Amino acid sequence: MIELNINGRDVQVDAEPDTPLLWVLREQLGMTGTKFGCGIGMCGACTIHFAGTAVRSCTLPVAGAVGIPITTIEGLDSPVQGAWIAEQVPQCGYCQSGQIMAAAAMLAQNPRPTDADIDAQMTNLCRCATYDRIRKGIKAAAATIPLPPTPEPSLEPAPEPVPEEQPTESGEASQ
Ligand code: FES
Ligand code: FES
Repeated sequence: MIELNINGRDVQVDAEPDTPLLWVLREQLGMTGTKFGCGIGMCGACTIHFAGTAVRSCTLPVAGAVGIPITTIEGLDSPVQGAWIAEQVPQCGYCQSGQIMAAAAMLAQNPRPTDADIDAQMTNLCRCATYDRIRKGIKAAAATIPLPPTPEPSLEPAPEPVPEEQPTESGEASQ
């Protein structure tokens, strides 16, 4: 038996250690929100959070997930889902669980991503080419995430400048 922690719950699964985590999620645990696309780590349809980082579960052996908190789309609590609905991001929808997981992980690290950040970090593929709406969804989700307060400017008076030492006639610095 292999013990996993998924969406905050400990679960035991009977699987070969090299079974991809994706198959365990879908076939053994019935968590079919995580999708199979390419099976070779290219498309991102199978993206989950692995200790908070977006990871492709089709290439992750289940034994490698022991002791690491895993979150799937079923357990995600992020403003991204609401933004995806508001912006009507999905078309066929097949890639969107992975897109949402990738976006949520990015926003957790970078709550105000630029277009360049999004282009660099959102490497999941979408056959329906919803990339513009994905970007809008990310920006809409980001707008709901409060930033940490910036420190107040100090009210302490600025320190007096220290006068430079003037050389005396003998050439030594005065006291
Ligand atoms: S199914 Fe995992 S990256 Fe495509
Ligand atoms: S919405 Fe169809 S593949 Fe992305």
